[in-house]
This record gives sequence, C-alpha cells and structure tokens, in this order.
Amino acid sequence: MVKNLKDIVNYCNQNGFIFQGSEIYGGLANSWDYGPLGRELKENLKKMWWKEFVTNKKNSYGLDSAIIMNPNVWVASGHVTSFADPLIDCKKCKARHRADKLIEDFTEGKVTADGWENEKIEEYIKENNIKCPTCGANDFTPIRKFNLLFESYIGVTDDTKSKVYLRGETAQGIFVNFKNVERTMRAKVPFGIGQIGKAFRNEITPGNFIFRVREFEQMEYEFFCKPDTDLEWFSYWKNYCMDFLKKIGLNEENLRFRDHSKEELSFYSKATTDIEYLFPMGWGELWGIADRTDYDLNCHINHSKEDLSYFDSDTNERYVPYVVEPSVGVDRLLLAILCDAYNPNYNENGVERELLKINYNLAPYKVAILPLIKKKHADLANQIFEDISKTYSACYDESGNIGKRYRRNDAIGTPFCVTIDDNTLENNTITVRERDTMEQVTIQVSELNDYIRKQLEK
Ligand code: GAP
Repeated sequence: MVKNLKDIVNYCNQNGFIFQGSEIYGGLANSWDYGPLGRELKENLKKMWWKEFVTNKKNSYGLDSAIIMNPNVWVASGHVTSFADPLIDCKKCKARHRADKLIEDFTEGKVTADGWENEKIEEYIKENNIKCPTCGANDFTPIRKFNLLFESYIGVTDDTKSKVYLRGETAQGIFVNFKNVERTMRAKVPFGIGQIGKAFRNEITPGNFIFRVREFEQMEYEFFCKPDTDLEWFSYWKNYCMDFLKKIGLNEENLRFRDHSKEELSFYSKATTDIEYLFPMGWGELWGIADRTDYDLNCHINHSKEDLSYFDSDTNERYVPYVVEPSVGVDRLLLAILCDAYNPNYNENGVERELLKINYNLAPYKVAILPLIKKKHADLANQIFEDISKTYSACYDESGNIGKRYRRNDAIGTPFCVTIDDNTLENNTITVRERDTMEQVTIQVSELNDYIRKQLEK
C-alpha cells in the first residue's frame, strides 16, 4: 500500500490511468480524465458491482434514469432546501472552508460535525480555538449554507428558460421509478433496484485526488422492504458490502465500520453506517449504508400526489415500503483499490519490483502478448493477440527485452504474460508467466483461453 497520495497521482498519470482534466489548457481544478487503463479498471469495477448487486440476485433490478429530471424531484427530496454544506470564511485571509471539515481535521477525525446545527459548529470552533488552516488566524465569519446542486437551464430564449438541476445523487431516479419497476417486473417486496451513473455536486472543498470531486459516479442500491424488517436488512446489507470489498481484494486491515451517532443521524434515518477506508490521508468514508425508512417514498407521494404504496398480496396489507440504501462512489472506491494494490517497491523472495497487486478480474488487461524476437515471432504473436482479445482485454508489446516487458506489465497489474518464441513456431507451445508468483508454465496455444478462464474463476 502507498503512504503518499502524490505517489498514486503520479503513478496514475505515468501509466495512463488518470490524467488532469483539460490539461492542455492548464487543467480545471479537481477535474480528472480516465485514460485507457483507468477506463478499463473502472468498467471492470462497475461490472463486478453490477453482477454482485443486480444480475446475480433474484429480487434485484437495474435502472438507468435521466441525469436531468423534473426539478420538483429535488424539491420533494429536500435537496433544494437542505442539500447544503456549512461554509465559513476567514476574515483575515479570505480563505473559504467547510466548517464541519475544520472540526474533523482539527480532531483528526475523532469528532464528526456532520449534521450539527450551525450554532453548535460555531461554538465548537470558538471554544477549541480552531485556526484557519491557510493563515493561522482565528477570526471567522458566521456560517452560511451553500447548496451543492449544480443548476442549469432548459430552453433557448430568456422567457422560456426554466431552471433544472444536474442530479446530486442517482438515488432519486430510483425512488421516482419505484412503481414503474414494481409494476413492469411484477416485483414483490422485498426487492432492490440498482443504478450506476454520474452525480454532480458543487463541493466547497473538493480535493485529495478523486476522493472528493464535483463530477463523479455512484453505484447506488435502494432495497425496498416491509416496515419493521428494515433493521434486519440494514444489518444484512452492511455485511454484504463489507464482504464485497474483501472479495474485490481490499485489505481487511484498511477497512472498518463507523456507526453514525444519534446526533449525527439524519432525522428520518433509523441507522446509518459508513464503511471507512484507511486512505493515505487518513480514514475516510468509502461506502454509506443507511436505513432511510419510508422517508423518500413519502416525500414523493406528498409532492407528486401519486400513490407509491405497495399492496402485499401475501398478507393483504398496503404499506409504503422502507428503504435500506448502500451507496458508494465509483471513483472513491477506485482510489481505495489503487492505494491498496500499488506498491512501488514490492519485495518477495528478494526480488524487488513495481507491482499493482490488483484482483485479476479488476486488472485493466488480463493478458499481455509478447513476441520474444520481433522479426521472428511477431506474425504469430499478432494472430494469438487477435484471437485472445475477442474474449479478454489484452495488450501487445514487442519493444524492449522480455524482462522489461514483464516489469511493465507487473506495474499495471496484468495477471498473465504470454511469450511467443521458437517453441511456438515449432510445436505451438507458449510460456505463460503469472504476475504474483512469477512462475511460468508451458501450454498449447489452443489451451490459453481455458487457462485464463480457470485462473480468473479462482
Ligand atoms: N444517496 C445517498 C448519498 O448520495 P452520500 O454519502 O452523499 O450519500 C454516497 O454519497 C457515496 O458517494 C459516498 O460514500 C462516496 O463514496 C461517494 N461520494 C459522495 N460525494 C462524493 C464526491 N464529491 N466525490 C466522490 N465521491 C463522492
């Protein structure tokens, strides 16, 4: 695991994972573009989540709702009035800060001021003599609330323009489609709806690479259940999410649950837990799991006047389902995965190398095709590349000595390197080198597909 976030930023830039956004124009602060390898890794991560939360579950359905919705959705959900962060300005240097973050940083994460009233935050800052991190003064303006929703406009002329919002979370798209999914899928409560998509927040203090950005992707799951069964399901989803993180290879020691205290809980939530990850800058929220009761559906019932209740034909009861929501950011999870897997000086059995020890299924390339001598082996290697890349993402590399090519692939996490040499020309055999053990096996070209499949299933 890397100790310094800068190392990960450099690594991502050097290896085609993540670039500074709009770089040739001097960049745009806190905007990032995913390069060829980052895009593959992100896609693999989303596939694994989708499989685990949507396709492999009987009572689960997927959705892809619009980013721009009727603005009343955001009025009903409470985002227009209360999706806001407490903003505070230093009177001396004019630096702007998130007031709750000042407390969190001052206490090294021991006190979370999320959900506190403004007065309480101001008092805490004063009593503890918390200073401006930029200039060291202790002279702040009163707190103002800053709404995080991005606004835009639909329409061409001024008098026909109407205000809309870029969605601040994907969850609302699920709530407003609850009835559509229930009806068309003949879904029976309990059931879940999953969605992956972009969300936008005008964050006051973005930063820490892709940890907090203004444009990001979420993987959200809303699980609709019978009232009074919610706490049981809450516990189920907490463990399910933690198991998923371990399954995709995150180190257990870098993960922990943090239950929200009573004063931190939203007024409608019965229970909320964050799964936190030990990032290079400290423990931070990775995945939020919340028992949201019947709050969201009721909000939409009240504002839309539509009946979103559910008739349970097994018990002859009508009720508004309760919701348990596991919600995780793709980018933030990707950062955790990279921090966990990347080691610039991995040393085992006396061999030191740069290694991305990532879950094989997440690896951007599954296999590298390497002709030993370009002139002699490139034709056959190209044929093998064409064949294997129909099934697995593969790269082709013919430059530099074979050792260098192994190292390059170790550094980007490629599980298998296949060498094509004279033996391949003579008797159709190839050497497959495995990333972690560096062991080599000789197999027939025709066995490669099956060999990789079996290794990935392990
Ligand atoms: N629907 C509930 C919801 O959106 P949240 O705690 O605000 O809850 C859920 O966000 C997850 O989305 C977080 O745990 C985090 O992984 C990710 N996330 C939130 N804001 C983010 C940001 N500005 N940049 C990157 N990821 C973010």
